[in-house]
Amino acid sequence: MTTIVNWFKERVPVDGDQLREMTNEPVPNHLKRWWFCLGGTPAYLFVIQIITGILLAFYYEASPDRAYQSVQFITDEAAFGWYIRSVHKWGATLMIAAVILHQMRVYFTGAYRKPRELNWMIGMCLLVCVLAVGFTGYSLVYEQLSFWGATVGANISESVPVVGTFMKEIMLGGESYNQNTLSRFYVLHAAVLPALIVFLLVIHITLIRLQGVTEFKFEDEKEGAPDHFNFFPDHLYTELIMGLMLMILLSALATVLPATMGPPADPLVTPEVIKPEWFFYVTFRWLKLFSATVAILSMGFIVFVMFVWPFIDSWIRKRWPASEASVWIGILGVISIIALTIWEGAVSH
Ligand code: HEM
Repeated sequence: MTTIVNWFKERVPVDGDQLREMTNEPVPNHLKRWWFCLGGTPAYLFVIQIITGILLAFYYEASPDRAYQSVQFITDEAAFGWYIRSVHKWGATLMIAAVILHQMRVYFTGAYRKPRELNWMIGMCLLVCVLAVGFTGYSLVYEQLSFWGATVGANISESVPVVGTFMKEIMLGGESYNQNTLSRFYVLHAAVLPALIVFLLVIHITLIRLQGVTEFKFEDEKEGAPDHFNFFPDHLYTELIMGLMLMILLSALATVLPATMGPPADPLVTPEVIKPEWFFYVTFRWLKLFSATVAILSMGFIVFVMFVWPFIDSWIRKRWPASEASVWIGILGVISIIALTIWEGAVSH
């Protein structure tokens, strides 16, 4: 054993103390509260998505003639295919929900403020990528709703002034949905976007390690008690317990509400009701409220404001130091998102 250890030590010259120092960063006490661990939750779910996604890729075929049948084969015939597919589908839902909750936690605790503005912007890029993975994944099944969802999505992008037509053609690989569209979505879903997410996560986590997480002091913390604890193993245990609970939740959801299949895509028959996945309900409702160009431009503006929010917030706080504008704007934003999502979910048109 010692010979093997020495063999490795000679080739990988990292000593134990260095490793301990790297992993044993003390973290503030508030990380014992679960809502401060919401960043670890999407990270854990992302790993589950990669594993189940690779297993699905063994059978999935990204061509309009074979896609639907290959998903049907996974669901009905491949060993544990229904389970892997259902975990992947529920994992996507939980991951997007966890990213949104994590972003809300960061927002309402003001953890995006100096010096973390850049990490907020990296986070916004992560949010866009995670939503794009959800969109492209939904389209891969090639059932009526996913086909028409992708078609509507592409038509909406056409309303972007100046570059709209170009964007639509890039997305579909032509003027309308064609033989090349599915493989384009598949490459984005299974390779380009996950690689981009990994790249952004490396920067996100590196910045967190360099800056440390924001320090908070809660009223119920005893005076004089230690205000930090060790990342390894204490915080890792908390994250592992959350991971275990998520796996139980995912398995329960996959078993009780497994992923099903709608009718296969028919490019000649537009379904009466077209709905995207729940996380796009808010944008879908917004589009129905205004003309396409107004809706697209206003959404672009809102995303831009979210992106540069740390700087807008800093400007507001310089002018009105006691202002609680960020809290009220945040509450208004969350209520609007929930209301538009429920509205879109409750009506058929
Ligand atoms: C795949 C998506 C994401 C993952 C895996 C992730 C992961 C993490 C982790 C592990 C932390 C450490 C603290 C914690 O757990 O809360 C963190 C902190 C942070 N995240 Fe994320 N994050 C993601 C998306 C986002 C988004 C969408 C935003 C905002 C737009 C964001 C902004 C931040 C900021 C500013 C911090 C520092 C918080 C502090 O100092 O307390 N992240 N993230």
